[in-house]
Amino acid sequence: MAIKASAPIGIFDSGIGGLTVAKAVRQLLPNEQIIYFGDTAHLPYGDKSTAAIQAYSVKIADVLLNAGCKLILIACNSASAAAFDLVKAYVASKAHVENVIDPVVDYLRETHLHQKVGLIGTKQTVNSGVYLQKINALNVGIDLQSLPTPLLVPMIEEGFHKNEVSEAIIASYLSQPLFEDIKAMVLGCTHYPLIKAQIHAFYQGRVSIIDSSEIVAKSVKALLAYHNLMDHGAKREDQFMVSDFTPSFQHATKLFFGTSISLKKYPLWE
Ligand code: DGL
Repeated sequence: MAIKASAPIGIFDSGIGGLTVAKAVRQLLPNEQIIYFGDTAHLPYGDKSTAAIQAYSVKIADVLLNAGCKLILIACNSASAAAFDLVKAYVASKAHVENVIDPVVDYLRETHLHQKVGLIGTKQTVNSGVYLQKINALNVGIDLQSLPTPLLVPMIEEGFHKNEVSEAIIASYLSQPLFEDIKAMVLGCTHYPLIKAQIHAFYQGRVSIIDSSEIVAKSVKALLAYHNLMDHGAKREDQFMVSDFTPSFQHATKLFFGTSISLKKYPLWE
């Protein structure tokens, strides 16, 4: 069956943090309908095994395919690292699949040749070595230095992202010797756009901060345009589903999406 331009864009993440990516997509493509799935029953993905993340991701891809999505965007860096190839194979020709790593790797190739670049992300994202493999495969002299920064996600979710506590934690991660003399820092996690200003302040403007949410939104737009799949019809209401619901997830939507949205519970396994 042919993929239709009027179909929605499916975006999924381990939880609510991927709303930073959904927000960037909505800003750049206001006419597209978004169907968001946050796997709040299984978060955090950053500490899970590759096999577990793969199983959850395929199940979510199935939900988004059943919702008729033309494109499935894996907004979660940990799931992009662990499950992109599998999801792509599973979805096959039924929809396009995009992740949040490849657009950033392409961006680095365009802008940071022969430079030392830092990356921060979850344990899953960094320890998978996926960024490093993709960057080394370019063979353009980019020296990528990456560090798992697992305290940052709970810190941001608990609202500790604009005070002395967060400043101290951020400084302690970023002042590690491996990051000495970097020219850019990749924010390789859904949550980190919320501490972009603090990271920028830590480097006092000397290092470019690479926010993957904006880069990924641009790549989604380019992909839709290339395949003639931009939706030019009337805007339909976005939908936001979660595999488990609590008031605190509902509350966190404001933090990550900017505006209040209403979450619907959609259990993955019943
Ligand atoms: N969404 C995850 C990521 O971008 C962060 C939260 C989690 O560990 O589930 O890697």
